[in-house]
Amino acid sequence: MKKALIIFLLSFLFSGLVISYSYGHRNSSPNMECLSCHEGEIIPELVKIEGIPTSYVPRKIYTMTVVVNSDLESMSESKGGFSLEVSAGKLLVKDKKTTQLINGFLTHTQEGNESRRWVFQWQAPSEKTDVVFTVMAVAANGDYSPAGDKVGAMSYSIKPSIKEVKK
Ligand code: HEC
Repeated sequence: MKKALIIFLLSFLFSGLVISYSYGHRNSSPNMECLSCHEGEIIPELVKIEGIPTSYVPRKIYTMTVVVNSDLESMSESKGGFSLEVSAGKLLVKDKKTTQLINGFLTHTQEGNESRRWVFQWQAPSEKTDVVFTVMAVAANGDYSPAGDKVGAMSYSIKPSIKEVKK
């Protein structure tokens, strides 16, 4: 009887976790579906990746910044969030306080929600292939709801550098 209760409670907890991971929240939004809950249309110039190289050297580590640019004012400490996905290479957490990796997506943390800039790193793949970065972000109005926010999305395709690198 006790065991059944524990299993019930555990599965309840677990489903809660799964739901909160797949949903957008102030403490993370590991998905590319912001628009399914946050209303409005995509504003492409709302989000960009600063420091993204036009071509990359295999295995090299690059430091970049996701920047949300919006004049939407926030009425609280909740200012924005994002989710970033890359087709090859490895996303690295540079600042654990503000960013985290969940299911392969780089996304904001609760503390990162108080900002509209997030620094991260990426290690280029060893194989030479075109790499696509996709980022989706929300500029929050700070009412702790998915209403009245602004949504942006951008994708970048970068190529391996033509110069041969010595091993
Ligand atoms: C399944 C629905 C859903 C999806 C998908 C979703 N959100 Fe949300 N989002 C919510 C809800 C509900 C809230 C309010 C609760 C909260 O703040 O945790 C919210 C709140 C937020 C807030 C705080 C808003 C404010 O005004 O205070 C940010 C920032 C945010 N989401 C970012 C994102 C981003 C970025 C994405 C996509 C990568 C995303 N969300 C996808 C449902 C969603």
